[in-house]
Amino acid sequence: MFRRILVIVFLQAAIGYCVLPETFAGDIDGQGLYTRYCVLCHGEDGTGQTDLGAGLGARDFNEKAFQDGITDEQIVEQIAKGTEDKMMPFEGKLTPEEMHALVPIIRAFGK
Ligand code: HEC
Repeated sequence: MFRRILVIVFLQAAIGYCVLPETFAGDIDGQGLYTRYCVLCHGEDGTGQTDLGAGLGARDFNEKAFQDGITDEQIVEQIAKGTEDKMMPFEGKLTPEEMHALVPIIRAFGK
């Protein structure tokens, strides 16, 4: 009996571990975050051709060279750390889950 409970508890933990991060990521409105925090510089269309983005030298997310030259981890890293004098860091402002939810939004510009 005790063993069976242990097995069930273990299975629930294992399933929860696999399913929950997905669920949480799915609940986050990446597009909404992009509109709120990123559009000002990177633009609705991801080209970076906004007053601020063009002035600061934001790259065009639509370009294949940009998409090929950056990994998902580097995108999260860029969001977290920013670039001095160009893009503010979002560490502490956005949760790691929110930063990860922005990756598919950035990737979608390349498609
Ligand atoms: C104040 C303007 C500004 C805001 C707001 C901003 N960025 Fe940026 N971002 C930039 C600039 C400028 C660069 C280019 C930095 C560089 O050359 O290192 C950049 C670079 C990037 C890059 C890497 C591009 C590359 O060429 O290496 C990514 C990815 C990115 N931003 C995503 C975001 C996301 C996601 C948000 C919203 C959470 C955001 N940015 C908000 C200005 C901004």
